[in-house]
Amino acid sequence: MTNVILITGGSGLVGNAIKAIVPEFGGEVAKNNTFIYISSADYNLSVMNETEQMFIKYKPDYVIHLAACVGGLYKNMNNKVAMLEQNLTINYNMVHCSHKFKVKKMVAFLSTCIFPDKTTYPIDETMLHNGPPHFSNDAYAYAKRMLEIHCRMYRENYGDNFVCVIPTNIYGHHDNFDLEDGHVLPALIHKCFLAKQENVDFIVRGSGKPMRQFIYSDDLARLVLAILFDNGEKITDTIILSVSEADEVSIGDVARKIANCFDYGHRIRFDESFSDGQYKKTASNQLLVQKFPDFRFTDIDVGIAQTVKWFLQNQDIVRK
Ligand SMILES: NC(=O)c1ccc[n+]([C@@H]2O[C@H](COP(=O)([O-])OP(=O)(O)OC[C@H]3O[C@@H](n4cnc5c(N)ncnc54)[C@H](OP(=O)(O)O)[C@@H]3O)[C@@H](O)[C@H]2O)c1
Repeated sequence: MTNVILITGGSGLVGNAIKAIVPEFGGEVAKNNTFIYISSADYNLSVMNETEQMFIKYKPDYVIHLAACVGGLYKNMNNKVAMLEQNLTINYNMVHCSHKFKVKKMVAFLSTCIFPDKTTYPIDETMLHNGPPHFSNDAYAYAKRMLEIHCRMYRENYGDNFVCVIPTNIYGHHDNFDLEDGHVLPALIHKCFLAKQENVDFIVRGSGKPMRQFIYSDDLARLVLAILFDNGEKITDTIILSVSEADEVSIGDVARKIANCFDYGHRIRFDESFSDGQYKKTASNQLLVQKFPDFRFTDIDVGIAQTVKWFLQNQDIVRK
């Protein structure tokens, strides 16, 4: 009997990384498991009836729950009701059905950007609910925090093996490279590409000083699959998935690495008339290192070079 592993958000950045990494886990995994990747075109998971139909059709043994209504600053600020309601309903439906249809294990995705705005650093797994999130993304953040609570309640009342993971900024192939809606790293890749094409300066908004931890989507996929297959022996609660504090990099350094990939480092300019946003959000990966001591992250220079290469070679399908 093969297990069915259902991945919501299968068409996104992380879903595509999981698809690419599954073969690395070897023939046994391929032989014993069927992977089903779901996009919003297959089922609208904010509708309970559609979510139930998906569970009835595929009868998943395991679920990786990635699907979310995500966006940049502008989308988050101007669509708070939609961000809250979409994410609350998607998450409610997925957790509720995973219990109802007796899923053996679910790994659900949170984000480090949902932690309290005012906090001490580094942030760790115990600090998620210690204060309000930043005003700009509070709708998204509260919906995600409720996902953590929902999974925890099912663990406590029914012993369900539902765990949450908290990644930092993710980047890689199949990202959203939109200049306004995309996250900072893919948007900078697109911006540098256009600047070189038009022979103008590569303008980076802000001072470039804010610090961030970036995780390559392939590394994240490896960790998520390792967590899924550990049968609950290792990870039984929420865990932050991040590179170390020492591997935090400035936005300026990321922009310079990107510009170097385009051989355009001499045209980079920082426009300090734009605000910088939060200076840092440093997360601790101590628990991750303790649970997976042998795990090695992809060097950010390698990850950025591969992402730029993918962006250039896949212009016909790039989200931008
Ligand atoms: N990207 C980051 O830097 C980051 C950082 C921390 C945490 N996360 C979390 O990681 C997870 C994966 O992120 P990602 O970057 O891979 O996201 P993404 O590329 O934006 O993909 C989002 C996925 O969700 C699906 N989706 C959205 N609304 C849906 C609905 N109503 N019904 C069914 N599916 C729906 C989309 O389907 P369509 O393609 O069909 O629209 C897509 O497959 C999310 O939970 C996100 O919150 C992301």
